[in-house]
Amino acid sequence: MRPYTIMMAVSSANGIVARTDNDKVEWTTSDDRKLFKEVTLDAGVLIMGRKTYETIGKPLPGRLNVVMTRSPQEYRSSEQLVFTSESPGDILHSLKRKGYSKAVIAGGPSVFSEFLNAQLVDEVMLTVMPLIFKSGYSIICGLEYDISLTLIESARIGDQAELLRFLVDRT
Ligand SMILES: NC(=O)c1ccc[n+]([C@@H]2O[C@H](COP(=O)([O-])OP(=O)(O)OC[C@H]3O[C@@H](n4cnc5c(N)ncnc54)[C@H](OP(=O)(O)O)[C@@H]3O)[C@@H](O)[C@H]2O)c1
Repeated sequence: MRPYTIMMAVSSANGIVARTDNDKVEWTTSDDRKLFKEVTLDAGVLIMGRKTYETIGKPLPGRLNVVMTRSPQEYRSSEQLVFTSESPGDILHSLKRKGYSKAVIAGGPSVFSEFLNAQLVDEVMLTVMPLIFKSGYSIICGLEYDISLTLIESARIGDQAELLRFLVDRT
């Protein structure tokens, strides 16, 4: 069995997760950041695209940071930081071999879409912020099929934001 995967995102009320290519997502709240830290520390590993990694600027401590790039040779991997050109399925198999039972898919939209298209997402954790952005990048780009979800939790995070947790229905 591959690791259980949680796709974790924060969006505006109109589904935007980044206003620009290098948006640092400073429009989220400290409570949401805390949740992200808790969930990723619990999994022990997060998987992200190279652009998202560059907006963070450094590996997040205490977790394995897997960064997808088509040019892994241009970066230096270390114990906590792995640059890889493996497919989503192969990344999860490598994590399984290393003993991980859960993994957080941390974005951005291109990575979310690739894992969804490969049917490798089990759960979606989405924080919705009380914001409407005039422009930006939608949470998903280039999805190849419709996906149905089952809502398993809805909870307030801090004063204003709402956390929605869904399971991805298997057809
Ligand atoms: N609000 C949120 O929840 C949230 C979460 C995450 C990110 N974001 C934001 O989203 C923006 C970035 O998203 P993005 O979709 O443009 O970029 P991204 O997914 O972070 O990174 C895209 C890059 O990942 C690499 N990549 C993707 N698929 C790959 C594959 N199959 N094999 C090998 N490498 C692959 C490529 O890197 P190379 O070009 O190096 O080959 C590609 O250019 C940032 O502004 C970030 O802050 C928001």
